[in-house]
Amino acid sequence: MKTRVTELLGIEYPIIQGGMAWVAEHNLAAAVSNAGGFGLIGAANAPTEVVRDQIRKAKELTDKPFGVNIMLLSPHAEEIAKIVVEEGVAAVTTGAGNPEKYMEMWKAAGIKVIPVVASVALARRMERYGADAVVAEGCESGGHIGEQTTMTLVPQVVDAVNIPVIAAGGIGDGRGFAAIRMLGAEAAQIGTRFVVAKEAVVHDAYKQRVIAAKDIDSEVTGRSTGHPVRQLRNKMTREYLKMEKEGASFEELEYLTLGSLRKAVVEGDIVDGTVMAGQIAGLIKQEQTCSQIIQEIIKEAEQLLKIN
Ligand SMILES: Cc1cc2nc3c(=O)[nH]c(=O)nc-3n(C[C@H](O)[C@H](O)[C@H](O)COP(=O)(O)O)c2cc1C
Repeated sequence: MKTRVTELLGIEYPIIQGGMAWVAEHNLAAAVSNAGGFGLIGAANAPTEVVRDQIRKAKELTDKPFGVNIMLLSPHAEEIAKIVVEEGVAAVTTGAGNPEKYMEMWKAAGIKVIPVVASVALARRMERYGADAVVAEGCESGGHIGEQTTMTLVPQVVDAVNIPVIAAGGIGDGRGFAAIRMLGAEAAQIGTRFVVAKEAVVHDAYKQRVIAAKDIDSEVTGRSTGHPVRQLRNKMTREYLKMEKEGASFEELEYLTLGSLRKAVVEGDIVDGTVMAGQIAGLIKQEQTCSQIIQEIIKEAEQLLKIN
């Protein structure tokens, strides 16, 4: 299944594994790349040397291209922007900010730049800055979200830019993949389904919570702060939403969630931790290898799109 994205990234299948904080470490990224997709290491707020170490470890596990997701609000973003050049990663995806000031350096190093956007205006701006593609992410997705749905955002972004569009948010199987191809996207970025990949170093309690989730089990916290996050309902979300309703300050809410994703992913505390996952969690029924996940999605989509 060739698209401009498979050409751009030098991959077999147009499936990108989302750069997920704590979840997307080197084992998952390398496994996705080895399976013919494009793996990403999620740098999130991790210190610079941790990210370098992750990149080097991924290189030991795969000789296929992989990338790094850089959260531009991270205090280490500036240093990590340089490290991806030194380590020669194939691509960066960026979130939470404007990657313009790094663009020249990355392009000179041959790194493909793929910002994550949640609106047409931002997609256009990123194209003007020289982005090689954009990820258009709908609010069905796990983690930090915008307001538009994947169904409405993707075709509007496709119409607005000439660079390839990668759809994200709510894609869990071959049907979802075929649908975003029909909307004009040239690849899918998938997060939640890869959380339960066998190779994902995620606490089993977290994986089982995602597998057990129903369609209505995700909730959005943080709308009052301007930083909405989709996650699965638990004691933490109930407490957070109650505090938001009562008018808690940004600082009070931040304090409540300090280290809470790590608590869930690493320690398996799915009661007081943050269990980020998207609305598609209800569709996900089992732990599988990255290769099984990618093959299943591509086979089903090919049948639906009738391109064998
Ligand atoms: C646990 C988790 C953590 C995430 N962390 C990040 C992150 O650090 N940076 C980012 O750009 N996106 C992050 N995302 C979003 C994913 O990269 C991806 O775009 C999204 O999960 C796609 O939607 P889906 O979950 O419906 O597949 C995260 C998603 C999840 C589920």
